[in-house]
Amino acid sequence: MPARPLVVHVVGARPNYMKVAPVYAELERRGDVEQRLVHTGQHYDALLNDVFFAELPLPRPHVELEVGSGSHAYQTGQALIGLEAVFEDALGDFYRPALVVVAGDVNSTLAGALAAVKLGVPVCHIESGLRSFDWSMPEEHNRRLTDHLSTLLLTHSESANENLAREGIAQERVRFVGNTMIDTLLASVDAAREAAAWRDYGLEPQQYVLVTLHRPALVDRPELLTRTLLALQDVARELPVVFPMHPRTRNVALVDEEKIIVTPPLPYRTFLSLQTAAAAVLTDSGGIQEETTVLGVPCFTLRDNTERPVTVTHGTNVVLGLDPDAIRTIPARVSQRMELDPPPLWDGHAGERAAEAIERILLDLPAAAL
Ligand code: UD1
Repeated sequence: MPARPLVVHVVGARPNYMKVAPVYAELERRGDVEQRLVHTGQHYDALLNDVFFAELPLPRPHVELEVGSGSHAYQTGQALIGLEAVFEDALGDFYRPALVVVAGDVNSTLAGALAAVKLGVPVCHIESGLRSFDWSMPEEHNRRLTDHLSTLLLTHSESANENLAREGIAQERVRFVGNTMIDTLLASVDAAREAAAWRDYGLEPQQYVLVTLHRPALVDRPELLTRTLLALQDVARELPVVFPMHPRTRNVALVDEEKIIVTPPLPYRTFLSLQTAAAAVLTDSGGIQEETTVLGVPCFTLRDNTERPVTVTHGTNVVLGLDPDAIRTIPARVSQRMELDPPPLWDGHAGERAAEAIERILLDLPAAAL
């Protein structure tokens, strides 16, 4: 048993990495805890996975569980069983964590939190308190349940604090630390701008629309997806459209690649570079709503709701709904870059505040838990 308490971070899918990296890096810098990174293997394609570890201040995972794809129950269940074995030290080169850190709202997040609490290990949730109030979204199940399993809930916005208070979560468990994903963005944005990735696709700055779509609410509805792609082709007549495509979408979408520039999933800095110079972004991602808010790039969210209302009240986000006709209005609605103050505590220092909150709770935990 080492002298320092062990903090185990669980990641599994692309959006987790940028949220955890600043917290991991700051805890490492402070040097008061031992750390391990466990990857469930929910995302396994190199382009959704390996490329990010090269670009972010994260080590290669110490353990990779290779859970892979499947139904929600299969994926969550496999991750739960695998993580329990890791936390119990069944793999031999590990020992019991003092705290497990999970981030966001993917299936691996819930599995990490549940495996930990079942063993009596406290959980810290990065990006707590987001609510779409849309119970058809798998992410809504994951984030609600994870929040209620967590001992330390790190939030990035006032509305998240309010959601948690409304659900009866004790205020002393909640710490408003800001947005750790924006720490990652601010650390990378100058290099991303300099990379000028738009040139690689023959594009001019402020003269293209960047698109990402991967949610089941769209991708798993063939008729709606077809109408959406036709609307994008209409947009492309006025402004070029570049569409880095998630494998879930690639598996089902029939795109006319004469009209729309389709790319594989892109490395973090390349995608950020494309965001910085886009005339507008059309997305159903959560994180991209936040990134465009900080970059001042107009964002149109192809969903009926957002769990990130601060991107609408303080940022550039417009919730467009799922009607493909709304997409056709984008070229006429693209305005100039907006100079906005970022939401409170989206300042590049959230990782530091998160690390401090984690160390403080480790001091407060009963010695037996360490
Ligand atoms: C997951 C998250 C979603 C997040 C997204 C980011 C859940 C419930 N969903 O969605 O919140 O926005 O990640 O990307 O956790 N696939 C591959 N290679 C991979 C991974 C997936 O080809 O490395 C394909 C498979 O066909 C798989 C499908 O994508 O069945 C869906 O993958 P899955 O991890 O279930 O969900 P995502 O759509 O990636």
